[in-house]
Amino acid sequence: MTRPGLIRIGALVSGSGSNLQAIIDAVESGRVNGELVVVISSNSKAYALERSRNHGIPTEVVLYEDCSDRSSFSRTIAETLKRYRVDLACLAGFTRILDPLFFELFHGDVMNIHPALLPAFGGKGMYGRRVHEAVIQSGARFSGATVHFVTEECDVGPIIIQDVVPVDDDDSPDTLAAKVLQVEHAIYPKAVELYCAGVLEVDGMRVRRRG
Ligand code: GRF
Repeated sequence: MTRPGLIRIGALVSGSGSNLQAIIDAVESGRVNGELVVVISSNSKAYALERSRNHGIPTEVVLYEDCSDRSSFSRTIAETLKRYRVDLACLAGFTRILDPLFFELFHGDVMNIHPALLPAFGGKGMYGRRVHEAVIQSGARFSGATVHFVTEECDVGPIIIQDVVPVDDDDSPDTLAAKVLQVEHAIYPKAVELYCAGVLEVDGMRVRRRG
């Protein structure tokens, strides 16, 4: 049952969906002026799909392999979001890069979470374990997570929220990933909450909070 006046949120997932779960929990707690109207997965075996079903959220599977190329995949994703009248699409562990065509077809806003402090350690090929390996190898003393608006270029959209974690001497990519994931689960729902409250103002690369 959808309710008028609420921001219609769609999530794009490919895997476990722990960030999706954090958003679901925030929505169900009532702190978000929005509702999850669809979860679209690029992987039919993603645990995120089960999480969605457990909460009665409609799911769709769009397989890259069923599309002729990246632009047809991106078109299908955009059309699915439009069919559910999505205002805000949240990429939550979505492993595919969307073609510029996606942004021509889908006119809602798009957010993503990245497991490092952008603009460092981002860009094509920087996902999953590789990000944490690169952070450790660089000698950086802090890592963290970033929620940002998505633009055509990978990982460079306006930053909404970041939070940090220390990189300890004995951290491995796995222990660092676990610490970063905890931060992700706090900041992604917060960014969605602020968006749905209508208090985010984008000014070039800066995102300000009104009120
Ligand atoms: C997270 O680390 C997120 O930053 C990245 O992919 C991972 C997804 O994890 N984009 P989950 O599927 O939300 O558990």
